[in-house]
Amino acid sequence: MGRVRVFLICLVLGFFLIASSVRCDEDAASESESKEFVLTLVHSNFSDVVSKHDFIVVEFYAPWCGHCKKLAPEYEKAASVLSSHDPPIVLAKVDANDEVNKVLATEYDIKGFPTLKILRKGGKTVQEYKGPRDADGIVDYLKKQSGPASVEITSVEVANSVIDDKKVIIVGVFPKFSGEEFDNFTALADNLRSDYEFGHTLDAKLLPRGDSSVSGPFVRLFKPFDELFVDSKEFHVDALKKFVEESSIPLVTLFNNDPDNHPYVIKFFNSDSPKAMFFLNFSNEEAESLKSKYRDVAEQNKGGDLSFLMGDLEASQGAFQYFGLKEDQVPLIIVQTNDGKKYLKPNVKPEEIAAWVKDYKDGKVSQYKKSEPIPQENNEPVKVVVAESLQDVVMSSDKNVLLEFYAPWCGHCKKLAPILDEVAISYENDANILIAKFDATTNDVPADHFDVKGYPTVYFKSASGNLLPYDGDRTKDDIIDFIEKNRDKKGQQAETITKETEGDAGSKDEL
Ligand SMILES: *[C@@H]1O[C@H](CO)[C@@H](O)[C@H](O)[C@H]1NC(C)=O
Ligand SMILES: *[C@@H]1O[C@H](CO)[C@@H](O)[C@H](O)[C@H]1NC(C)=O
Ligand SMILES: *[C@@H]1O[C@H](CO)[C@@H](O)[C@H](O)[C@H]1NC(C)=O
Repeated sequence: MGRVRVFLICLVLGFFLIASSVRCDEDAASESESKEFVLTLVHSNFSDVVSKHDFIVVEFYAPWCGHCKKLAPEYEKAASVLSSHDPPIVLAKVDANDEVNKVLATEYDIKGFPTLKILRKGGKTVQEYKGPRDADGIVDYLKKQSGPASVEITSVEVANSVIDDKKVIIVGVFPKFSGEEFDNFTALADNLRSDYEFGHTLDAKLLPRGDSSVSGPFVRLFKPFDELFVDSKEFHVDALKKFVEESSIPLVTLFNNDPDNHPYVIKFFNSDSPKAMFFLNFSNEEAESLKSKYRDVAEQNKGGDLSFLMGDLEASQGAFQYFGLKEDQVPLIIVQTNDGKKYLKPNVKPEEIAAWVKDYKDGKVSQYKKSEPIPQENNEPVKVVVAESLQDVVMSSDKNVLLEFYAPWCGHCKKLAPILDEVAISYENDANILIAKFDATTNDVPADHFDVKGYPTVYFKSASGNLLPYDGDRTKDDIIDFIEKNRDKKGQQAETITKETEGDAGSKDEL
């Protein structure tokens, strides 16, 4: 699930915003020149160095990782700037690919490269680096992170410098900077500082929005969307955290080429709720009326479990590819549930939006499957199966079918192709055997029947409906042996079905 989300976010945004959780492409060259400001740490001196610092940033990298190479000069530049910060901010790196350092990679739960961690108090607290990847961005982010988690707002000028119209900022207003409320607020700020900015003040009049006559304690969350600020008097740490998280999600997440919106897009895709996505051309004449109708629907569903996103066609190529959508289908709404089911309304008219969402919620909309068109001609020895023909050609067919799930770019699949051809040719005169292939990049694989984690994945479905993964060698002889061993022979078929139904009626899938 987590991996799928990361994958989706990357595709949707079209670049590796959160490359830290994504494996880099392999390539060979290695960086060799020694750097001046970034410290090199290895397993033997890691804890020694870390324990001496109240604040240190560690990059876990691999020499072959392209994103790491891109980051290296920026990271070095930031390290040189930050070395003259008061107090100096230290940047370090660990080659997590090196055998001796693998124990560090495990300890810090490194899943991809590069991953940056902020270690505080001699390594006692560890925080994910969630800042930008360019030198200036790194410097700004780390200056903030190394300072106090919450900035004291002492004047209108300070208020204006921390509260802008680009991000969420949470301000605590207190009659005095002590007491349980203040402590809880500070604890939360420490805890969430990599995701949000925090401020505190004794004077609500300094704040740009909201009632200024109250003295607190209360929390005012400023946000660049919807109602622009919300107040809360909740100070229990968990309740405060929930308030912050819920209030900082826009009613409708906007997805276009503006990078300021991307943190919200990431949140949207990371959330656990079913997702409604409305894709349209923001530059079209009718866009405004469509958007406002969609907002109305989001408003009506507020507090429900569906979350809403609105995407500009121009920024959405990744999403279109992922969902198998076509540009001529916009404006369109697609809903994706947590278990990966999808529902689609292409070419939706403004007045149809509310009714369709209602139908979806009432369970009246049928599922959408990404599929290539069923091929008109299918004359090659290995038959082409697409999502739309899978049921007829494989699942409910009375033939024994060997089915390969492949990706066009996959090298092992290319190697297997001529072998499957030979197998298919050797069964040319056997009407009970079908050899087929399924492009799993352009067609949805039904996850309730097939577990496709890599390519190629090969399954065998016997005439009676028995489904088996093929895990033998990828040779003609082995594949044919397997088919012969597992096929239902003519005449046996009826018998097998009876047996199976008797033996295992309760748990048998409706194939
Ligand atoms: C840690 O040890 C490595 C390998 O001996 C060395 O190259 C590196 O400079 C050391 N780092 C520090 C900060 O002492
Ligand atoms: C502060 O948070 C703790 C739980 O973390 C809670 O028990 C306590 O009641 C909170 N204090 C206030 C004033 O809400
Ligand atoms: C969006 O609409 C504008 C205005 O009608 C048009 O010029 C543009 O080509 C459209 N964009 C796409 C990607 O179709």
